[in-house]
Amino acid sequence: MDKLIITGGKQLSGELRISGAKNSALPILAGALLSETPIIVGNIPHLHDITTTMELLGRMGVQLVIDEKMNIEIDTSTINNFEAPYELVRTMRASILVLGPLLARFGSAHVSLPGGCAIGTRPVDIHLDGLTKMGAEIKVEGGYILAQAKRLKGTHLVMEKITVTGTENLLMAATLAEGKTVIENAAKEPEVSDLANFLNKMGAKISGIGTDILEIEGVDQLGAKDLHYDILPDRIETGTYLVAAAMTGGNIRVKNTRPNTLDAVLEKLKEAGAEIFTGDDWIKLDMKGKKPQAVSVRTAPYPAFPTDMQAQFTAMNTIAEGVAVITETVFENRFMHVQEMQRMGADIQLESHNAICKGVDKLAGAPVMATDLRASASLVLAGLVAEGDTMVDRIYHIDRGYDHIEEKLAQLGAKIRRVPN
Ligand code: UD1
Repeated sequence: MDKLIITGGKQLSGELRISGAKNSALPILAGALLSETPIIVGNIPHLHDITTTMELLGRMGVQLVIDEKMNIEIDTSTINNFEAPYELVRTMRASILVLGPLLARFGSAHVSLPGGCAIGTRPVDIHLDGLTKMGAEIKVEGGYILAQAKRLKGTHLVMEKITVTGTENLLMAATLAEGKTVIENAAKEPEVSDLANFLNKMGAKISGIGTDILEIEGVDQLGAKDLHYDILPDRIETGTYLVAAAMTGGNIRVKNTRPNTLDAVLEKLKEAGAEIFTGDDWIKLDMKGKKPQAVSVRTAPYPAFPTDMQAQFTAMNTIAEGVAVITETVFENRFMHVQEMQRMGADIQLESHNAICKGVDKLAGAPVMATDLRASASLVLAGLVAEGDTMVDRIYHIDRGYDHIEEKLAQLGAKIRRVPN
């Protein structure tokens, strides 16, 4: 397994291009299963999760062609099986996103249960409950979800909890259902809206996009000739590099991004002392060489502060001026980075859903590893401000969700290298 070695102490500066959003690409590639016509999805990030999704669709018989500009052409006319096998689903929970489209278009789906996950139990009960209410027959056998439906029926769904992939699965299922579906308490994440806009481009009738009530008028079929859809830029990748720059007292400009999807994060960076300037598709952050102030954050569904930025802000607080409390309300077990940061000299106390962080003068480089994507990224950030070398192990987690992280950080002046095992 590859490792990253970071030698801390460099102030980040320069310009960076943000990649397409992982969390848009995954549902949109799954949503392509609904299309009767070949379509092209562009601005696809270079990520391991994309490779996994392509393998998943490929095994179903879907034809996929990717070009050097990361556009994927998807043709579902040769699809011949409706299964998402365990060995793929266990490496990427988001594989569950094929359930809604397969069921809606082909009336059958055989999808492995995602099983345990490093960041809490993460069940899929709300996905299954919604599909059942739309008339699907669902059994769970041998670790697989077996779902059947002649044609799904539109209905009124009130989501018990806000779930991003749950909303996406039900939204995709509803596009081909008979009649109207209303999804109340829907997730409002920009990636949900991106999926809905994509589905509408294929002929779906979705309204209420961006709100917590989605209304979907079912249609008989989806597809559009010559459709090329570019996915949204990645707000979490954007936020991660901005925090990296802020921690090092740096000054960077990120382009090909969407500042209006990052309001809560930018507010917190300002509170930490960053000067922030934005245009339509760029953000500039300038710390003027200062250390950040500690900032308290509380994670919650969009538009509140994202749980996917929690670990990075924890990293920033480890070396900030003052004391702050990080409260995680979305996932139950999302503080695995804390133990590793403590090994680097961070002063963090965990009290149930809170991490109380007291800034220290300096972290010390150490060998560390993490068990999920954002936690691993936060350890890279910690390494940027640590004295000496930090070796981050198990970086396959990072490769799942960050496009060429070491090249992008090196471009900003970080001393970082990948060592193959
Ligand atoms: C998505 C994102 C992930 C992000 C998360 C929260 C993708 C591919 N992944 O994950 O990066 O961290 O949203 O913003 O988009 N829950 C249930 N029952 C269900 C479904 C969810 O109880 O059927 C709970 C979960 O355990 C969790 C909460 O709902 O506590 C939110 O999870 P959810 O929004 O579903 O996360 P994902 O969609 O898996």
